[in-house]
Amino acid sequence: MSVPILDLSRSFNEIKPEVFDELEKIFASQSFILGSYVKNFETHCEKYLEIPEGSAVGCASGTDALLLALMACDIKEGDEVITTPFTFFATSGAIARLGAKPVFVDVDYENYNINLEDALNKITDKTKAFLPVHLYGQMCELEKVISKFHDKNIKVIEDSAQAFGAFRTVDGKIQRAGTVGDIGCYSFFPTKNLGGCGDGGMVVAKDLEVAERLKRLRVHGSGKTYYHDEIGINSRLDAIQAAILDIKLKHLEKWNEERRKSAEFYKLLIKANNLQEFITPPSETENNYHIYHQYVIKVKNKRDELMNYLDENGFSVRVYYPLSLHLQPCFKYLNYHEGDFPVSEKLSQEVLALPIFPGLREDEQEKLIEAIRKFYN
Ligand SMILES: Cc1ncc(COP(=O)(O)O)c(C=O)c1O
Repeated sequence: MSVPILDLSRSFNEIKPEVFDELEKIFASQSFILGSYVKNFETHCEKYLEIPEGSAVGCASGTDALLLALMACDIKEGDEVITTPFTFFATSGAIARLGAKPVFVDVDYENYNINLEDALNKITDKTKAFLPVHLYGQMCELEKVISKFHDKNIKVIEDSAQAFGAFRTVDGKIQRAGTVGDIGCYSFFPTKNLGGCGDGGMVVAKDLEVAERLKRLRVHGSGKTYYHDEIGINSRLDAIQAAILDIKLKHLEKWNEERRKSAEFYKLLIKANNLQEFITPPSETENNYHIYHQYVIKVKNKRDELMNYLDENGFSVRVYYPLSLHLQPCFKYLNYHEGDFPVSEKLSQEVLALPIFPGLREDEQEKLIEAIRKFYN
């Protein structure tokens, strides 16, 4: 048996006829960029996320969503943005592209997210934004610190690229990833839990004036066509992505639930096979609804050997991420060194993502965990 890290075709088969119907309509209209499909999708996201009408802005990718969010907060050269070194490159890449300085803070060993208390300690008079990541689909406990950032006029931008639909329950109320801070950013890259058939992203803003500005920034800073109030970028969501994402959005709750069920089953299997001594399942922080965009275990010893063994036996696994961002060659100029963020560095040696996606079967999970048991035997 072989198990892929991701098989998108299993969930796509559920929606295939509907997708092809919509594609026919789009090709008949020959209208491909922004337009009514994008507007509809934005409206449906606003309803799903329970945020005000007009606050969601589709764009070309999750990376652009971050860039647009930072631009809308006027982040520029000389500014500091506090963020995590244990994430996909785009998070700090967007900060650096605007000439600002990513100020890294180590992460929590249990839930992989940025250490919020340490983040507060990194505030200086140059800090203009705080950019946490809800890594692998699990939210940070932002409610604990948000007012402390706001008191100092620091914007909070959530990188929710991996967490569409994840939430926390705070004082009996649901807070969805991306809707807690000033701006939330999402990625619709095909492998994401809400993914299109190409690149796509979205920014959501608390302040509707900021949302309006984001709508201008995504079309070269233009409010009225060919008149430019400021310098923006070209970052438009297209009709094909919006149509497919709109169909998938209707299934998202069910698919996120499926992911949670698979996560629960992995946990059971790890325990039933007495593997806790070798591997640690991911933990869900209290009051969190983790959507398990990734199911990431910690492997105490021989992570790479285990990965190769699984690979040779047909089980596809991945390491997200093998090199902490403060050690990336392109960030040498920031003057960070090995040992600066010990938890992030340790995690990059220990983490291993197992297959998780809607349609993953229990027998596939059983075989994979059995293979891990054989490796340690
Ligand atoms: C945490 C995080 N931020 C940002 C991005 C960038 O998204 P995109 O690939 O859509 O540009 C990703 C995508 O992998 C991500 O995982």
